[in-house]
Amino acid sequence: MSADLTTTVAGLELKNPVIAASSEATATPDQIRACLDAGAAAVVAKSVNESAAAHANLRAAEYVLLDESLRPRPLGPAQRTDSLFCRSGLLEVELEEWAETLAAIDREAAAHDAYVVPSLIVADLDRAVEAAATFERAGLRWLELNVGAPHASEAPEGIGAGVELVRRIRKAVSLPLTVKLSATDSAVDALAAGADAVCIATRAMGFLPDLETRRPVLGTFAAVGGAWALPLTLHRVAKTHVAHPEASIVATNGARDGLDVARLLLAGASAVAFATAVLTDGPAALTRAVDELAGYCEQQGAAVRELIGEAARHVQTYEEVAIERRH
Ligand SMILES: Cc1cc2nc3c(=O)[nH]c(=O)nc-3n(C[C@H](O)[C@H](O)[C@H](O)COP(=O)(O)O)c2cc1C
Repeated sequence: MSADLTTTVAGLELKNPVIAASSEATATPDQIRACLDAGAAAVVAKSVNESAAAHANLRAAEYVLLDESLRPRPLGPAQRTDSLFCRSGLLEVELEEWAETLAAIDREAAAHDAYVVPSLIVADLDRAVEAAATFERAGLRWLELNVGAPHASEAPEGIGAGVELVRRIRKAVSLPLTVKLSATDSAVDALAAGADAVCIATRAMGFLPDLETRRPVLGTFAAVGGAWALPLTLHRVAKTHVAHPEASIVATNGARDGLDVARLLLAGASAVAFATAVLTDGPAALTRAVDELAGYCEQQGAAVRELIGEAARHVQTYEEVAIERRH
């Protein structure tokens, strides 16, 4: 018998919990279609806004994989022990046209029980409100707002951050809204501001001196992530789920395969968003994740919905464990 992989995020029914996260792997219609064809239940398009500074940062983007000894090499198929160290920016688009393009692919996606999700990062809040309304008018069915992008600390002109940005976007549209948070942003505040789901959590900033040149790798600070981040994401997700079991959580940062999806479900996420694995290994990483998760569910005899939060609900306090161990 095949496993039931269906789940619910922000009130929307998904055929499985595997999402292609916003990145340079979801920046064109062909890339988005490739992720849909690979079996993702939703594809979040590369984030956009009107900021020339953010567009210039995308043109100047650089990416390296770091092995377990922090030796850089070009982007390509990655090992689980690799980290991705990179600097990025935002896509320059004509907004109405971008909204129409995404809405057209979303209609194709709907026929396969999947979603295409536009993504916004705020530069000017009034412009972001207009952009959100443009996406809704175009017929898109779901919106993601990232208020926790790590690059905001280096590029504040083009990348706004902070949960206080949520309320006005929420008021401007009625479509389901996922708010993507940094590891220190408050999920409670995002939900109170009207988020239908929270995405936990964006990557951290890092720094790496090159031992030969004695200069920074990539020349700047840059965002960093790897499978090593998974327990940190699992902790944030579990804490949020235990405190707010009703909250709809998408997990991101550190998932590399289908067993990581299962771990994040057990921590309390309802879906998991992959970026690095798609950038390094292509959309096939999404197909593999769905297949591995299906295998895990079959082996456990459990549906995805039954896994959500199960491990988090069994976390004990240090005190409880100390008492138990005394007996
Ligand atoms: C090169 C790159 C570009 C990204 N661009 C965006 C973006 O435009 N908008 C956004 O919300 N997240 C962006 N992200 C964050 C990813 O969507 C994802 O949340 C994060 O990388 C953690 O997941 P991972 O461990 O699967 O990479 C980007 C990540 C990478 C690596």
